[in-house]
Amino acid sequence: MGGRTAGFRQKFTFILVGLMLGACVARGIAAEEKEAPKLPRGPIRDRHELMEGVGKNAKKIGESLKAGKPAEAAKPAEDIAAVMYKFTMLFPPGSTDPNSRAKPEIWEQKAKFNQDANDLKEKALAFAKAASSGGDVKETSKAMWASCKACHDSFRVPKPGE
Ligand code: HEC
Repeated sequence: MGGRTAGFRQKFTFILVGLMLGACVARGIAAEEKEAPKLPRGPIRDRHELMEGVGKNAKKIGESLKAGKPAEAAKPAEDIAAVMYKFTMLFPPGSTDPNSRAKPEIWEQKAKFNQDANDLKEKALAFAKAASSGGDVKETSKAMWASCKACHDSFRVPKPGE
């Protein structure tokens, strides 16, 4: 009887965390999608679209966790990991635009920027591994979202009210 209660509580906490994460991510994505970017063709638009893809995969991860199906979150996390190196290659010197949210610090601290991208790659792979093998998706997803935020805080122009 005691064991059943504990199991229930654990499951409940898991669902609750999933719901909270899902809501956070979904709200962020909805805000991003309202904006129709007017970006020049080439790396400036490509990297924006790449990040939009990362955002969509993040949303899928949130939904899978919310639905209590962590295994389904593994593939989108692997997809995020797979594009991070490419992302860092889409910032040739001078590729700035008033509608781009890339901060000048990207070019001033390119090594740190590359490192942040690699950090997300590692965190996303660690999460994917946990998600597909019944591991700790709570801790590993937290680390992954923290990695997104760390890079955005340093290298992405905030939107008004962000
Ligand atoms: C290595 C740095 C870095 C990491 C890590 C990172 N981002 Fe970004 N992200 C950026 C930058 C820079 C931009 C703005 C790109 C631009 O405007 O050129 C951006 C933009 C975005 C956008 C909006 C599209 C846009 O161009 O405005 C979304 C959505 C997004 N990121 C989601 C995520 C999510 C979710 C994660 C983690 C899973 C993540 N990002 C990890 C740097 C990063």
